[in-house]
Amino acid sequence: MADKLWVFDTTLRDGEQVPGCQLNTREKIVVAQALEALGVDILEAGFPISSPGDFNSVVEISKAVSEPIICALSRAVEKDIQVAADSLRFAKKARIHTGIGVSGYHIQHKLRSTPEAVMERAINAVKFARNLVGEVEFYAEDAGRADPEYLASIIEAVIAAGARVVNIPDTTGYCLPEQYGAIIRFLKENVSNIDQAIIATHCHNDLGLATANTLAGVMNGARQVEVTVNGIGERAGNTSLEEVVMAIKSHSEIPVVTQINTKKIYETSRIISKLMNMPIQPNKAIVGRNAFAHSSGIHQDGVLKNRENYEIIDPKDVGVEESTIVLTARSGRAALKHHLALLGFPVEGAELDEVYERFLVLADSKRDMGRKELLSLIGEHLEDSPFISLEQIHYEGGEGEIASAKVTLAIGGKNLSADAVGNGPVDAVIKSIKQLIDHTVLLDEFLIQAMTKGSDDTCKVHMRLMSEGKPYHGFGSETDIVLASAKAFIDALNKLPVKQKLSNN
Ligand code: KIV
Ligand code: ZN
Repeated sequence: MADKLWVFDTTLRDGEQVPGCQLNTREKIVVAQALEALGVDILEAGFPISSPGDFNSVVEISKAVSEPIICALSRAVEKDIQVAADSLRFAKKARIHTGIGVSGYHIQHKLRSTPEAVMERAINAVKFARNLVGEVEFYAEDAGRADPEYLASIIEAVIAAGARVVNIPDTTGYCLPEQYGAIIRFLKENVSNIDQAIIATHCHNDLGLATANTLAGVMNGARQVEVTVNGIGERAGNTSLEEVVMAIKSHSEIPVVTQINTKKIYETSRIISKLMNMPIQPNKAIVGRNAFAHSSGIHQDGVLKNRENYEIIDPKDVGVEESTIVLTARSGRAALKHHLALLGFPVEGAELDEVYERFLVLADSKRDMGRKELLSLIGEHLEDSPFISLEQIHYEGGEGEIASAKVTLAIGGKNLSADAVGNGPVDAVIKSIKQLIDHTVLLDEFLIQAMTKGSDDTCKVHMRLMSEGKPYHGFGSETDIVLASAKAFIDALNKLPVKQKLSNN
C-alpha cells in the first residue's frame, strides 16, 4: 500500500512573507478555511514572534479551523518558542517548527557561531519546545548547502531530543533534483534513529526546480512536503502544492498518496491569488489561465477527438469545468467548426473551408476572436457597434465612504440605467451593470496592469467572466481604473454567445 504523504502548507507563513502579499487576520482566516477544505494536513499559520498581528493571526486561525495541525514557526530562541507556544493555545493539534542554519554560510556568516554551538542550540530548542506542545518539527535551514555528515549528526541529535519531524530545507533553491534526493537518501541511511521521525522537504524555486527537488525527496524517503498554493514565497517562491499533488496523482510509481481534495485546487488557487494580490502567470502549471487552453490547430483537432491526446490531467480533477479551445490565427478548421456550433451555426464541408479562409485573414489581424468576429464570418454580424456599450458612468467613493455608481448602457440599441453601492467604486459599477443583464456571470479573474509608469499612466484591465461553465475574456484600457474595469467587463459580456438573453428589460 502507498504511504501517506503529509502535506504541510506554508502559504500563510513562507508565502505571506512576500512583499505586497500581507493579509490581515480576517483574510488569513479565509485562506486557512480554504486550506482546511482543500485537505492540507498541517497548516503553518505564522511566525508569532515577528509581530503582534502575526501572533494574533495564529491565535484566531487556531480557533477557526479544526482539522489540520496548526504550526507556528520560531527560531532556536527560547523567547520565540514560548511565544509560538502561547499563540497555539487554542489549537486542537499544535506543532512548533523551530530550527537554525546548518550550512557553512549560515554558521559562519549569519550566526557567527561554530558547528558545536549550533548543535547545542538546536538540541536545547527542541527540548524546550517539546515541553510546551505535543509535536515539534526541527528545520535545518540551508540544509541544501550543508555538509552532509554534519547535517546527519544534527538531525540525529534533534530526533534524540524529541523532534518528530525533521525538515531539510533547500533554503536558497540551489540543489539539483539528484543532489537533493541524495541528501534525503543519505539521512535515511546514516541517521541511526531516523525511523523515529518523518523527513520533510522544503524547497525554494530559485532555479525553477522546487517541484522536481521535492519529488526527488519523496522518491528517496521524505514523507512530508512543505508547499504553498500557487508556489508563492520568498524570491522565486516555494514548491507549489498543486504541482506536487498532481504529479503524485498522475504517477503511480511515486509510492505515496495525499488526502488533498484536488477538485478544490482551482478555487483555492483563485482565492489566494485574489486576497494576496498575486496574479497567476497564465502558463502556470495546473492553475494558470492557459493550463487547459489549446490554441494551435493540431492540438485543438487532437483534443476535440479525444481530450487525452493533449491533456494528462482531466481539468475537472482540479476543479476546472473544461478545457478551452482558443481561437487564434494558429487554429484549425476543427476548432472553428466547434466554436461556430457553440454559437448555434453548424458549418461543414465546403462551407467550412470557405469560412475558414476568411477566418485566417481576420485572425491574422485580430488578437481576440470573439463572438462578434465569428458571427461576422458567417454574415451574421452586420452591426459594427457592440451589442452592449457604455453610454454614461458616474461613481463616487472615498476612504470610509460607501461607494456608489450609476451606469447607463446601450443594450441592443436601447438605453438602460441602473445604480448600486459596493465595497469600492469598481464593485459598485460592476453591480450596476449586472442589474441590467439577465445572465449569471461570475467575475473569476481581474488583473490590472500599468502600461508604463507614473500616476498618469494608462492601465490595462483584464477580466475573465465565467458563464455556464465557460470563460469569456474582456479588456479595457483607460487612465481611470474604474472606467477601464467597466469597459473590460462589458467587453467580456459582448462575447457571451446568446445576446438575446443579455438584457433583462
Ligand atoms: O526556507 C527555509 O529554510 C525556511 C525555514 C524557516 C523552514 O523557510
Ligand atoms: Zn522557506
